[in-house]
Amino acid sequence: MIDFAFATSPQRSAEELFDLFIFNEKLNYVLKNYSPKALKFATAYLEELSSLRDQIWKTSFYSQGRIEQLHTNIEQQVRQTLGELKKCHYTFKEDFLSRIFKKMLIYFVSEEQFLVTKKSRGEYLDFSLDRSFDWIDEILGMNFTDSEETKPLDYPRERLYLNSGKGVQTNFGSIALILSLLDLQTSKVIFDLGSGFGRIGFFVGLLNQIHRFEGFEIVPDRVEKSNQIAKNFNLTPRVQFHCKDLTRDPIDYERADIFYLYDPFQDETYQRITERVRRVSRSKNIQVITKGNSKSFIAPMAQAEAWPKPIVLQDGNINIFKNYQTQ
Ligand SMILES: C[S@@+](CC[C@H](N)C(=O)[O-])C[C@H]1O[C@@H](n2cnc3c(N)ncnc32)[C@H](O)[C@@H]1O
Repeated sequence: MIDFAFATSPQRSAEELFDLFIFNEKLNYVLKNYSPKALKFATAYLEELSSLRDQIWKTSFYSQGRIEQLHTNIEQQVRQTLGELKKCHYTFKEDFLSRIFKKMLIYFVSEEQFLVTKKSRGEYLDFSLDRSFDWIDEILGMNFTDSEETKPLDYPRERLYLNSGKGVQTNFGSIALILSLLDLQTSKVIFDLGSGFGRIGFFVGLLNQIHRFEGFEIVPDRVEKSNQIAKNFNLTPRVQFHCKDLTRDPIDYERADIFYLYDPFQDETYQRITERVRRVSRSKNIQVITKGNSKSFIAPMAQAEAWPKPIVLQDGNINIFKNYQTQ
C-alpha cells in the first residue's frame, strides 16, 4: 500500500495520487475494452511512472484477473485518499490542487497529441480523461445539491442551464489543455463570460499567482458560491466573480487580455458580446477561447478581422483565437 503521508508531504501525495488516478482510469479502459492493444496502452503509461512502477510492476499482469485485482486495489486507494483530502485544511488543499493542476497541464497536452496522431493514422482510440477529474469539485467544496434550489429568474431568453450541475461546466481536463496552449508567460487578465460555478477561475488562481481572473455570471447562486470558494482558498482579489447580465450590464471589456466563452448565450447576446470583443481586439493583443457553439460567432468575426487561424482542439469543440501571430 502507498502511504500518502498527507500532513507531511503534499508533493509526494499529489504526484502519487495523480499517477495512480490516471493509471486506474487506464486499467478501467482495459477492462472495458480488453485487447492486447488496450493493454499495451495502459502498461506503456505505467512504464513512464517512476513512483508507481516499483510498487505495482512487480509481477506481470497480462491477465484479466490480475488487472481486475489491481484496479480494485488502486481504486480503493484513490477513494480513500480523496476522502482524507476532503478533511484537510484549505492551505493543504491549495498546495495539493496546484500540484495536480501542473501535472494536468503536461498530461492533457500529451493526451491531445496522442489522440490526434492516432486519428491521423486512421486508428481511433475512444479514450480521454478529460471528464475524469470531476472529483476536484468536491475538494474545492462545490455543492451541486444546493444548486438545485436555484430559483428560475426573470430571463426567459437566456440560457441558464438551471439544475445542470456539473454538466454546465468545462471539464478540468479541457481547462488544463487550454491553459497549456495560451500565451500566459506574462500577467494576464482573463474574463470568463458566463462563468457558471467558476471552475476556470479556480484552476487559474490555484495554478499560479500571476494572473487575474474575473467571472461574469447571471445566476446569483453560482456567483455567491464561486466567491465563497475563492475566499476559502484565499484567491481574492486575484479571482473574482460578478453577478452580471451580459445582455445589458456594462462591463469594462477593455481590461481583458483573454476571453473565455463556453456556450453561454442566445444569439442576440452573442452578437452584442462579439462586437465588444472585436472593439477590444483593435486596440490590443487578445486571445479568445470558444468551447462548443460559441465558435460560430467568434470565427466569422476573427476571419473578417484577418486574425490568424485558431488552434483547434478536441475535434473542433475548442478553438483558441489570437488576433496576433504567435512567435
Ligand atoms: C455552459 S455554462 C459555462 C460555465 C463556465 N464558463 C465553464 O465553462 O465552466 C454558461 C453560463 O453562462 C451563463 N449565462 C447565460 N446567459 C448569461 C448572461 N446574459 N450573462 C451572464 N451569464 C450568462 C449561464 O447561466 C451559465 O452558467
